[in-house]
Amino acid sequence: MANLNLILLGPPGSGKGTQGERLQEDLDLPYYATGDILRAAVKEKTDVGLKAQEFMDRGDLVPDEVLIGIIADRLESGEADHGFILDGFPRTVPQAEALDSKLHELGRSLTGVILIDSSDEEIVRRLSGRRVSVKDGHVYHVEFNPPKVDGICDIDGSELITRDDDKPEVVRHRLVQYHEKTAPLVDFYKQQGLLNRIEGGEPPEKVEESIRKLISTLSLEEGS
Ligand code: AP5
Repeated sequence: MANLNLILLGPPGSGKGTQGERLQEDLDLPYYATGDILRAAVKEKTDVGLKAQEFMDRGDLVPDEVLIGIIADRLESGEADHGFILDGFPRTVPQAEALDSKLHELGRSLTGVILIDSSDEEIVRRLSGRRVSVKDGHVYHVEFNPPKVDGICDIDGSELITRDDDKPEVVRHRLVQYHEKTAPLVDFYKQQGLLNRIEGGEPPEKVEESIRKLISTLSLEEGS
């Protein structure tokens, strides 16, 4: 059996969550979105959540060791033995190096990194109109991807709200963090021959189609 071990990389609001949700349904692989994992921890008031909340509210990155621990636990658990999709991790060079060494230790390797690219102007437009369901965090946009019934999630039926970190001043800070700390991963993965760039400014269906085409060209890891 061949394994698909994928990273979705890109600026905040570029569409990683939107595409990740579609890919997960399609490929039936474990999907680890670190933003979702952290938001669940904040809601449940776990130790990780209590530690993460102040960083997230400011739009800062949560310390590397917290995120490295979260992902290492999932990779070691066995549930990702036949592939995985990572969304929002790694987000710094130390996180990427830690992921490489964990995969190496497990005799695994990455299949590819998909960079969903978008301009800063488009990101501000998207995040100001984003709405998420209170229950499970399903993602909508008031203009580009509206729910069938205004203010209600099509999937889980809960209320749609604006994320705290989608306030304009926090979005601007998240973009600064992205350019300083996450954008260097583009070269990091280019040098490893793993980077694949997708134009994220297209409508969601077009982006999805480009990702599907790209995945069909990737050479998969040999699994057991
Ligand atoms: P996280 O939740 O990962 O936030 P993010 O990377 O900033 O990404 P977003 O969720 O904002 O956007 P997205 O790319 O998923 O876009 P979406 O599909 O929703 O992280 C939150 C925080 O957690 C971080 O700030 C940090 O504090 C912490 N954190 C997480 N991981 C970490 C890590 N590894 N290290 C340290 N800290 C970490 O789309 C956005 C909007 O656009 C939606 O409304 C959607 O409907 C719409 N849309 C999507 N695609 C399209 C399209 N093609 N055309 C038009 N509209 C579209």
